[in-house]
Amino acid sequence: MSHEKSARDPQRLRSARWFAPDDLRSFGHRSRMKQMGYDDHDIRDKPIVAILNTWSDLNTCHSHFPQRVEEVKRGVLQAGGLPVEIPVMSLGEMLMKPTTMLYRNLLAMEAEEVMRCHPVDAAVLMGGCDKTVPALLMGAISADIPAIFLPAGPMLKGRWRNVTLGSGSDVWKYWAERCAGNLCDDAFFEIEDGIARSAGTCMTMGTASTMACVAETMGMTLPGAASIPAPMAAHSRMAVATGRRAVELAWEELRPSRIVTPQSIENAIVADLAIGGSTNAIVHLIAIAGRIGWELKLEQFDRLSRQVPVLADIRPGGRFLMEDFHDAGGVPALLARLEDLLHTECMTVSGRSLGEQIRGSECLNDEVIRSRDNPVSRTGGTSVLFGNLAPEGCVLKTVAADPRLLRHRGPAVVFDSYAELKARIDDPHLEVNADSVLVLRSAGPLGAPGMPEWGMLPIPKKLLQQGVRDMVRISDARMSGTSYGTCVLHVSPESAAGGPLALVQTGDEIELDADLRRIHLHVTEEELARRRAAWKPPQPRWTRGYNWLYARHVTQAHQGCDFDFLHGRSPGVEPDIF
Ligand code: FES
Repeated sequence: MSHEKSARDPQRLRSARWFAPDDLRSFGHRSRMKQMGYDDHDIRDKPIVAILNTWSDLNTCHSHFPQRVEEVKRGVLQAGGLPVEIPVMSLGEMLMKPTTMLYRNLLAMEAEEVMRCHPVDAAVLMGGCDKTVPALLMGAISADIPAIFLPAGPMLKGRWRNVTLGSGSDVWKYWAERCAGNLCDDAFFEIEDGIARSAGTCMTMGTASTMACVAETMGMTLPGAASIPAPMAAHSRMAVATGRRAVELAWEELRPSRIVTPQSIENAIVADLAIGGSTNAIVHLIAIAGRIGWELKLEQFDRLSRQVPVLADIRPGGRFLMEDFHDAGGVPALLARLEDLLHTECMTVSGRSLGEQIRGSECLNDEVIRSRDNPVSRTGGTSVLFGNLAPEGCVLKTVAADPRLLRHRGPAVVFDSYAELKARIDDPHLEVNADSVLVLRSAGPLGAPGMPEWGMLPIPKKLLQQGVRDMVRISDARMSGTSYGTCVLHVSPESAAGGPLALVQTGDEIELDADLRRIHLHVTEEELARRRAAWKPPQPRWTRGYNWLYARHVTQAHQGCDFDFLHGRSPGVEPDIF
């Protein structure tokens, strides 16, 4: 009883440093909170829960957040906390150019600093659209203030006539059919009306859904939160429950440093592989690991990839969508089938271990979440390749590739930039055939900048018309989690940093062997040395501002593309309050 009392002593709250002392500065803090209508009971007796809200009118996936934030607040109030909403940078994948990835680290920095500099005892992280998830997690880990993540939730399934549509994946598919002359304009515009028919994130296993599953497995959400479709009443209830739990996190001082560990990150990799998740998760998980000072290597993904089966049969690698995954039992049901591969002792924001959380979770549809003896694929959905073209590695989502192309050798057709690719790819005179290997460079963290999702290079129109639907494509770009095809991505070091991709010439033979995890440029060392000597680095494009900072400090894809100065555990320095 006495322990319970002291654990809930408001004097122990972090916010008490701002509001409790009888001094001039605290007088100022209290009087200005009173200016807003709060009283002593609000600011002296309760945990203050910040709600970091990534909503904006231009974030297409977070349009339900104005209602959800009220529901989170309701939960905080029910549990005896004071909710305070703090808007943070809104990274909407669809409309921000050149790519939200350029700004992931900026949101991470903002999230870390707004948590640290304000009188908050815990935080609810409201995100969902691709980069908001890793950014908020990275910021919370570095701030190390108790935090809980609320995923935006996927959209309802898309619909066109009697066809079920999946975000992104079906855009590429039907665009290719339109280019091939198989789909009329009217039908294409009908698809435009039906593919995103509710609030929420992409409902394929794209980056948003992948990262939500990663966050849940890592222990940063309440169980089941990752897959609840955004418009469902259950999503509202999850928002309320998340708000309630945030208050308890503050009293318990359950910080991310007790939850996000090398073991919980390994659990997240297992989940990522078992859902056939987005390749973007690899970059984000390496960056998240960097925030706890763990140098997560690409080899670790590959090692696990050989052990973890793909169980979730979700597009773009499979057949179903996130709504089906949710109905089948979501992440808890998936993880229950992988228990022997998990560190079940890991702590979660619920206050229970991951093992306690998933034990007994039932799978309600074996087609959507397959059993271990009937997997979608016996090994993980993503392979890591090395070779003279990618000395630091590159990745290939094998589960979304044409199996016929997983061992392939062909001549390169090189594009120096995306602008050149757009200008030339449909040129009827382009010398290209189905065996060619399309190569795009200047698309990495430095080159683009921000490593945009250009890695699913379009198939040339003349080949589409011949019925070609997949080719080997290689770049230092990323690829949308909703994309598919034999796309070798994240080639590191990137071309703009002088990686071997910069030296490839049209006509060079490139060999891919996914089984051997090998990517090889068939050019002699002497010839490569000659080309290297002649190579000139690109001129810096930015002389000021955030882009300048980014170019100076971003790391390569195999290092997570975080800023080098953000790597490592934060020493937990609290602001002086004078
Ligand atoms: Fe936001 Fe896909 S565009 S999740």
